[in-house]
Amino acid sequence: MSERIAVLGSGRMGDALVAGLAPHHTVLWGSREPERIAARAGELGATPVDHARALDADIVFSALWHRDELPFARRHRAALAGNILVSMANPYNEDYTDFTTPPDSSAAEALAAAAPESVVVGAFKNTFWGVFAKPEFPEGLSDVLVTGDDDDARRRVMAALAPMPFRFLDAGPLSRNRTIERMTLLARELSVRYGHHPYVSWRLLGKPEPEES
Ligand SMILES: NC(=O)c1ccc[n+]([C@@H]2O[C@H](COP(=O)([O-])OP(=O)(O)OC[C@H]3O[C@@H](n4cnc5c(N)ncnc54)[C@H](OP(=O)(O)O)[C@@H]3O)[C@@H](O)[C@H]2O)c1
Repeated sequence: MSERIAVLGSGRMGDALVAGLAPHHTVLWGSREPERIAARAGELGATPVDHARALDADIVFSALWHRDELPFARRHRAALAGNILVSMANPYNEDYTDFTTPPDSSAAEALAAAAPESVVVGAFKNTFWGVFAKPEFPEGLSDVLVTGDDDDARRRVMAALAPMPFRFLDAGPLSRNRTIERMTLLARELSVRYGHHPYVSWRLLGKPEPEES
């Protein structure tokens, strides 16, 4: 089913997501400077708008940094009410060595607290931007762990994302992001050490492929 989708932010993740979603859905691409991204949006088949106008959508993907999306969500709480809001942020500190959230919380849960009338779903926490251009690994497609406390919203986001070249796994409630986001911290550290950052993602081994199950 084609959805009305918003992507907030025109950085690396925002661009990759718009490229993946625009062929399948109506995409409003939110930017502080929509005119700057107009040509790219035209190329991808999305509509460039300012961040506030992008909220006129059913599923809103936040491709903003944790430190920016919290004040944004508080400021636009009313406009976000009733929307599915997708959290992709990892709450890095300044030098990417740790997180700013305590171990018993996550960026996804903090976003849900900042936008309490929205239904928050987590996705793409572990998919580094370099993967979108070359998503096929010898081991198979990488996993996108989709989380959320509302079953329907989680399923709806998984259905909207299904055409993209990833394996989408239902990873349970939003609190799973306490682990999932920290998997990104570890992946970044290892991929920097072994020289392949930002081409890094996770895949759960052992799950039968559909044709084998
Ligand atoms: N990079 C990765 O590999 C990766 C992987 C997984 C998850 N993530 C998460 O995805 C999010 C985006 O990452 P990214 O690498 O795409 O970052 P990025 O390239 O720096 O893009 C962030 C975008 O946010 C917008 N922005 C910046 N400051 C803002 C502010 N004060 N208020 C509102 N919007 C602002 C800008 O878009 P406009 O100028 O158009 O408004 C900017 O291009 C982060 O939360 C990150 O943790 C990233």
